Amino acid sequence: MQEVHGYKLVYLDNAATSQKPASVLKALRDYYEGYNANVHRGVHALSAKATDEYELARKKVADFINSPSDRDVVFTRNASEAINLVAYTWGLTNLKEGDEIVLSVAEHHSNLVPWQLVSQKTGAVLRFVDLTSEETLDLEQLKGLLNERTKLVSTFHVSNVLGCINPIADIVEWAHAVGAKVLVDACQSVPHMAVDVQALGADFLVASSHKMCGPTGMGFLWGKSEILESMPPFLGGGEMIVDVFLDRSTYASPPSRFEAGTPAIGEAIGLGAAVDYLNRIGMDRIHEYEVLPLNI
Ligand SMILES: Cc1ncc(COP(=O)(O)O)c(C=O)c1O
Repeated sequence: MQEVHGYKLVYLDNAATSQKPASVLKALRDYYEGYNANVHRGVHALSAKATDEYELARKKVADFINSPSDRDVVFTRNASEAINLVAYTWGLTNLKEGDEIVLSVAEHHSNLVPWQLVSQKTGAVLRFVDLTSEETLDLEQLKGLLNERTKLVSTFHVSNVLGCINPIADIVEWAHAVGAKVLVDACQSVPHMAVDVQALGADFLVASSHKMCGPTGMGFLWGKSEILESMPPFLGGGEMIVDVFLDRSTYASPPSRFEAGTPAIGEAIGLGAAVDYLNRIGMDRIHEYEVLPLNI
């Protein structure tokens, strides 16, 4: 037991980053000690094992959020990178001057600054939903902001500042009715409740591994397969190509198209172990425990 300032340490800063269970540390160690090798490019036994474990981690994440396919899960460095990926690929391709992006005033900077950058490049306009006096999203205002110019609604599932939960399925229904896509920042929901991308109905969902008992340097983007298929690459390099010529290249299908270069292999496998850990406890049990009134 560690002491800080003469007291037993109790760590409560899980919303910023969670501590890592022994099983996650073991998964990292097993990879680095036992089968450290690059993925998708070696034919030797260690590379095959590393590739299998890396892809198994993707499958675990896909099942965890009830994705129809593990091909819809793109590994990123964190949630911020996942949002930037959407902003720079889907955003720069689909947004033009006068289009509107709806955000709330309570977004994490990760879900604000990428859209500021994209709006500067495209001329798309940012529109903001305020909070009610109960410190929840003003849903009536949100509905009123939606119109035929709205191309994207990007908002949190659970707020990192307020703890309030957005009714994502409703927001998706309203946004889709005007033809807009919806991105869900699920950083603070995925570690705390069962999240089902098919039930939510959104187009994109992002989360960070390090907030869900997994390693840092790891996160994921989930996207509807037909939308991911339609998006151009984010970063260029190895892994994301099919054929390379000196003057042009052809690109792999998702998720590889969006995973240029050697990925965070051990960290992905560690995230898979974190998903196993959360599943062993059970997301419904975790949520029930967290919403119990405090007896203090
Ligand atoms: C709601 C929310 N979105 C996005 C992020 C950004 O996560 P990361 O820094 O891992 O990219 C955080 C981190 O605090 C968050 O709480």
